[in-house]
Amino acid sequence: MTKARKAEIERLCELGEWVRVTGSRKNIKLTEYYLLVEDLLHTDEVQELSDFRHHRMTTRYQHCLNVSYYNYKVCRFLRLDAHSAARAGLLHDLYHYDTARYTKSSPVIRHSSYHPQVAVESAARLIEMNPRERDMIENHMWPVTTARPKYAETYIITFVDKYCAVIEYLLPQPARFRRWVKNRMHMHKN
Ligand SMILES: [Fe+2]
Ligand SMILES: [Fe+2]
Repeated sequence: MTKARKAEIERLCELGEWVRVTGSRKNIKLTEYYLLVEDLLHTDEVQELSDFRHHRMTTRYQHCLNVSYYNYKVCRFLRLDAHSAARAGLLHDLYHYDTARYTKSSPVIRHSSYHPQVAVESAARLIEMNPRERDMIENHMWPVTTARPKYAETYIITFVDKYCAVIEYLLPQPARFRRWVKNRMHMHKN
């Protein structure tokens, strides 16, 4: 892909005309998948996830979108409930606080156990979840958390969540990195 084309896609992403997931160059706005989550993507609760850094090089919004998209793809391939997989994937990390600050405050409950509970409560305020969606959000940290997943889709999300964490670390795109540096410099100035 030429530099000019890359810049053009970057511009379209900023305008919201293109939506991408990490590891893919596709405009997911043009896919069937997008129709399943479009309503959720426009809620303030999901949009506000953009304000939080996640896995160092990305935002929590992008991470949730990544998990949602790949969870959908894998579940569809395996003829599982891809619709629930897409929606639960998008809401699986629906919490609005800084992870590092939570960890530093030495709470009684570890963040890995705490944030799925917060996410499921936040999701319940947003939509009426079916049992599969609830299980996927509540138990996406298994086996770090002890409750066993009840559905095949939940086992899938535990893998997809970890896979996304890896690609988010390994595929930092230069533009995102520049934005991250710019934001850090801005934070230090203020
Ligand atoms: Fe999580
Ligand atoms: Fe996650």
